Amino acid sequence: MKVIMLGAPGAGKGTQAKKIAAKYGVPHISTGDILRENIKNKTQLGLKAKVYMDQGLLVADDLVLELVVARFKLSDCKNGYVLDGFPRTIPQATALDAKLDKKNDKIEYAIDVYVADEVIVNRMAGRRACLNCGRTYHVDTLKPKLEGICDYCDTNLVLRDDDKPETVIKRLEVYHEQTKPLLEYYEKKGILHRVDGTESIDNIYKEIIHILEA
Ligand code: AP5
Repeated sequence: MKVIMLGAPGAGKGTQAKKIAAKYGVPHISTGDILRENIKNKTQLGLKAKVYMDQGLLVADDLVLELVVARFKLSDCKNGYVLDGFPRTIPQATALDAKLDKKNDKIEYAIDVYVADEVIVNRMAGRRACLNCGRTYHVDTLKPKLEGICDYCDTNLVLRDDDKPETVIKRLEVYHEQTKPLLEYYEKKGILHRVDGTESIDNIYKEIIHILEA
């Protein structure tokens, strides 16, 4: 199963992508998580990426493509994946399609989780992230068992640098300019499905499963 999760920053792509990946036994590939891992490990790529991410801008297409191509080579991708945060521009989408075409392969579903911008700004202020394992929580809607601590790896949860309101507003602008055109791109391919991201996490998940099993 090859699925792409689309949606604005904070729409809930990652929350749903992790659940879908776990259900179908395929990896959840988040380019944001891979980039943050590189920043944590102070790699060359991480140092370059941080400059853009801290401003709410996208990292250059060629750098992200390099990461994704390397990730696809790992054996856990043989039965598919859930892509979260990639592709994010038309050039990334066409590069992905060209790569899959060569293997007579294709993306089967593009799921757009849609949420209005004003809901997103409030949501992001309440998000808490584990920078060790990539899990995310929310101070109101998805609390960890122990306040401020990741349920899975006991690491302290933080407000991501790019979740500050001024950076979120910039990320939303970038989303509307560079990522939203992907909706039309996948609609033309007949694989776009849209779900209401203001529903509860469980209801959205059920709706996505319904789409994937129709
Ligand atoms: P990335 O990490 O991909 O961030 P994003 O796309 O902006 O998405 P988020 O992780 O912020 O949000 P999400 O939709 O996954 O929401 P979540 O499930 O956490 O990218 C970060 C940066 O990396 C980019 O800005 C860019 O610089 C760079 N980058 C990454 N990929 C790139 C690429 N391909 N090309 C170029 N640059 C790239 O949910 C948000 C919060 O809401 C959580 O607290 C959650 O608990 C809560 N929540 C979720 N669902 C619900 C619900 N239904 N109701 C109430 N609360 C909910």
